[in-house]
Amino acid sequence: MFFNLFRKPGLAKPVDVSQIKVDMHSHLIPGIDDGVQSIEEAVKLVGSLKEAGFSKIITTPHVMNDTYKNTPEIIKEGLKNLKAALENAHIYIPIEAAAEYLIDDGFEKIFKEGRLLTMGKKYILVELSYYNMHHGFYALVFDLQIAGYQVILAHPERYSYFHDKWPVYEDLKARGILFQLNTISLTGCYSPKVQKVAEKLIDMGFYDFVATDMHNEEYLANFNKSLYIPHLQKLVESGRLMNHNLI
Ligand SMILES: [Fe+2]
Repeated sequence: MFFNLFRKPGLAKPVDVSQIKVDMHSHLIPGIDDGVQSIEEAVKLVGSLKEAGFSKIITTPHVMNDTYKNTPEIIKEGLKNLKAALENAHIYIPIEAAAEYLIDDGFEKIFKEGRLLTMGKKYILVELSYYNMHHGFYALVFDLQIAGYQVILAHPERYSYFHDKWPVYEDLKARGILFQLNTISLTGCYSPKVQKVAEKLIDMGFYDFVATDMHNEEYLANFNKSLYIPHLQKLVESGRLMNHNLI
C-alpha cells in the first residue's frame, strides 16, 4: 500500500499525439546515419508514427564532419526512395527531410556555402557534442540568426556539461535558441539524470518543440512508453509547443 502511495503515477490514457502534429526530429532514411538501416524498418517506423497520431514527419539525418558527411543531394535521394517505398506499402503521410547538424569544425563551411537544409520558415536543427560545447557555438548562433535562421537545439537535456547549470540554460534561451525535447528522455532510457533535467526544463517552460528522435525499434518502444508520462502531457497541454508551425 505504501509502495502504491509513493509510486509515480502514470497516465491512464496515452498523450494525444495528434495535438503535436509534426514529428520534426528522426533518423528514418536507411543507411546514411545511425538510424534505420533498411527500407523495411523505415516503412514500419513511419507507419507506427502515423498510427500514433502524427500528421506529418520531418526526418533529420545526422550531418557530422567526421562520420556522416551527408549532403543535401544524399538526403534528398534517400527521401525519394523512402517515399516510393511508403507508397508501395500504402502508407500515406506527408514526409519531408531536413538534417540534424552537429556543431563541429565542418558546420561553418556548409552554412557559408548556403547549403543548410531547413524546416518550416528557416528553422535549423542543431546538436552539440556530448563531451563539450563547441567553442564557436555562440558566435555561429549569432551569425545564423543574422542570416534569418531560427536555431533549434536538439535535446538540451542530454548534454551532461549543462546539467544543473540552470543559468547556462537561461543564457541559451536568452540568445533566442529554441529547445527540442526528446520524448524518450522522460522514460529514463538515456539516464535518470537526463530524465530529471528534462522534467525540470518542462517545469521551467523552456521547451519549444518535442520530437521522437526515432532511430529504430528500441526507440519506438521507449516512445510508446513516454506517452504515459505525466510530464509529457504537461508539455503538450502547455500551449507552448511550436511543432504546428512546421505543417
Ligand atoms: Fe537525432
